[in-house]
Amino acid sequence: MSTTADAARPEFSAAELLRWQEAGCLLGSSPSPFYAALFGRFAADCEQGSAPVADLLARAPMTINAAAPLRLFGGVHRGVLVAEFPELAATWPTTEHPAGDVDGAYDLLRTLFASPPASVLDALSRDPQTNEVGRSAALALGLAQIGRLTRKPIRLFEIGSSAGLNLRIDSYFCDGGATTWGSPDAALHFGADCYEKQADFAGATPIIERRGCDINPIDATTDDGAATLMSYVWPDQFARLDRLRRALEIARAVPAGVDVQSADEWVDRRVVTVPDTATVLMHSVMWQYMPDAVQNRITATLAERGAAATDDAPLALVSMEPGPQAIAMDLSVTLWPGGDREVLAHCGGHGPPIEPLE
Ligand SMILES: C[S@@+](CC[C@H](N)C(=O)[O-])C[C@H]1O[C@@H](n2cnc3c(N)ncnc32)[C@H](O)[C@@H]1O
Repeated sequence: MSTTADAARPEFSAAELLRWQEAGCLLGSSPSPFYAALFGRFAADCEQGSAPVADLLARAPMTINAAAPLRLFGGVHRGVLVAEFPELAATWPTTEHPAGDVDGAYDLLRTLFASPPASVLDALSRDPQTNEVGRSAALALGLAQIGRLTRKPIRLFEIGSSAGLNLRIDSYFCDGGATTWGSPDAALHFGADCYEKQADFAGATPIIERRGCDINPIDATTDDGAATLMSYVWPDQFARLDRLRRALEIARAVPAGVDVQSADEWVDRRVVTVPDTATVLMHSVMWQYMPDAVQNRITATLAERGAAATDDAPLALVSMEPGPQAIAMDLSVTLWPGGDREVLAHCGGHGPPIEPLE
């Protein structure tokens, strides 16, 4: 995803961006050996001289944050998902053949990139757009803590909601070991294997209102929106794809409005405390994408509203964002009155594995 600060960022060659992404696909708890192998092959093509893929990537900003290789492969993956590229689909990873057919895919993609269809060119003009529902498994710990501390039903407000999948958090089931969140009948489960220690969901209170905002929301209830979200998940990340498919089914049944508005304006307008409820602002993996002025305005609004919060009308912030070392995410809760911040867990960028802290 690009940021407004991108203009000042250094530009890289196509080979460098592809090598960067090749390495990125092998990091973390859910790597993509398939994409890594393909990015490596196309990087080698660029290193050996001019290649059609280099001209294609140059249609996007050539910065790290603009993620041109992920834009390109998002378009390709979308074409596979919507049956635009049936031959290529036969080379794609499946649960039966998780490695896929890298040689076959590479040959077909070289032909495709030499005369790219409109759908692939269109993808190069767009920021990759994701909504990772695995983050609900961590965010639920924060909401349970607010329920435990306030004993009040929750009004949930999320900024950077994307398609709003994490706004439907109480439609998913989390197994914390001794305590659980949600209904065991839910179509999407986060099992005890998602948590490295027992996770405490005791005292959770109901969510009685929910709403989100995003500058570029996706409608999770349409086929088009679903294909967009699926296309940016790497094709050999089967657990993520399975969770996303289940969350998309749930989204069609559970409404959650996402307003098109920048987070600072929206927080100012919407996040107002109400007696007998806990008003909660929630965000995950979105803070870094906002310019400083937008971040500062939200922080100032929260400080002002927090100072006016009472035990009867508390305000809370649940945040899942990179921790100080940036190697893991911090799941934290801040509660007003008082404004004390507590880090409840560390977790991966997509949620699990989640390490609840003592
Ligand atoms: C990496 S996605 C994360 C989406 C979601 N929070 C999740 O955890 O899956 C970041 C989201 O932040 C949104 N975003 C970026 N800047 C924003 C702003 N100023 N106001 C509202 N949303 C913003 C993007 O459009 C994108 O949907």
